[in-house]
Amino acid sequence: LSTHELRAVLASTDTLPEPWRGWARQRPTPEVVHLDSAAAGRSSRSVLHAAAEHAIAEARWGAYVAAEHAAPGLARLRADVGQLLGIAADGVAWTDSARTSLARLLSAWPFEGSRTIGVLDSEWGPNLEAFQAGGLSLVALPADGFGRLDLDAFERLLKTAPPTVIHLTQVAAHRGLVQPIASAAALCREHGVPLWVDASQALGHVDTGHGADAVYATGRKWLGGPRGVGILAIAEPRWAQLSIRRPALLGDDVPPVQALESSEANLAGRVGLAEAVQEHLLLGPVRVWRRLAEVGQLARDALAGTPGWEVVDDFAQQCAVVALRPIAGQDVAKTRRRLLDEHRILTTASLPARAPRELAAPLLRLSPHVDCRPAVLEALVAALAAG
Ligand SMILES: Cc1ncc(COP(=O)(O)O)c(C=O)c1O
Repeated sequence: LSTHELRAVLASTDTLPEPWRGWARQRPTPEVVHLDSAAAGRSSRSVLHAAAEHAIAEARWGAYVAAEHAAPGLARLRADVGQLLGIAADGVAWTDSARTSLARLLSAWPFEGSRTIGVLDSEWGPNLEAFQAGGLSLVALPADGFGRLDLDAFERLLKTAPPTVIHLTQVAAHRGLVQPIASAAALCREHGVPLWVDASQALGHVDTGHGADAVYATGRKWLGGPRGVGILAIAEPRWAQLSIRRPALLGDDVPPVQALESSEANLAGRVGLAEAVQEHLLLGPVRVWRRLAEVGQLARDALAGTPGWEVVDDFAQQCAVVALRPIAGQDVAKTRRRLLDEHRILTTASLPARAPRELAAPLLRLSPHVDCRPAVLEALVAALAAG
């Protein structure tokens, strides 16, 4: 895009209906057409301000006094995130990333005897590495033709040869794939098999309150929280069995799951996340989920027929992760670079390591947020066609 064209695309937020126009206006003016919420969303000015104010308060009051001042807001954050994940506030712990949350979960889970974990072929690559490093053997879960959990075959597996744990990534990172978590959780409960859910791409994007035994995520993607705040939530019936070493310095009143938190952390990030979650709740989670589903469909429709590219999963997926497959021999990493350098359009190259059991070749990923609009998609289509 020329500077002039880019300005026109960015100014087209005026065409958005409320509350999405307000959502866009609450954020610093972008330098790029941002289609990368699945990597990290854009924080609002209030989120950035809250985080900065906390850092300043640390220098003015002393860090631990500032932490005391922030405590009520952070307690509310725990309760709000717990509610979004369907788990009581005391079962919510903060970490620095989803990956760390999974590592803590693996270290605390009371495995006895066999250690197998059921996963779909679409599973996020680094999770597979973590399972293997944790001594878990993978068991393939049955999927339909699109990669969604096949619930009938899943129930048969739970009846006949259940893995020790089931793991589902609710929204895949590399393409628009949403798993039927509510139904899976109900089946797991019925058959007494624990369910873990990676909600990194799901929190703030789709309904995550489905009663899994453990859920982990990050605040920086669809909620638009600061970087460096991860979440681990474990359901109450599992607390007593967790294998947790309680440091002597930790008070007896600290709930067991919170003993998994690191003793030191960037509190400003959590304070920023508290603001992001308040904004999400104020907009109304259901309204945001619906809007993101609509945005995903808008993007799939606009991109259908783009010369040289094919929309992956060209059917109604209720999410805003959209993947394009190159069908004219394009190098996806180079395309991503060209879109950014020449057109100021930010996307992701989904390399096979993100889903090694499924992806044989890279895909181009777009993950627009609620401020997506036709002018943005037209610019993207034109930029792709120019390659
Ligand atoms: C599905 C999924 N799981 C886990 C992660 C890892 O998150 P983090 O970078 O916070 O460890 C990501 C990040 O992109 C992801 O998409």
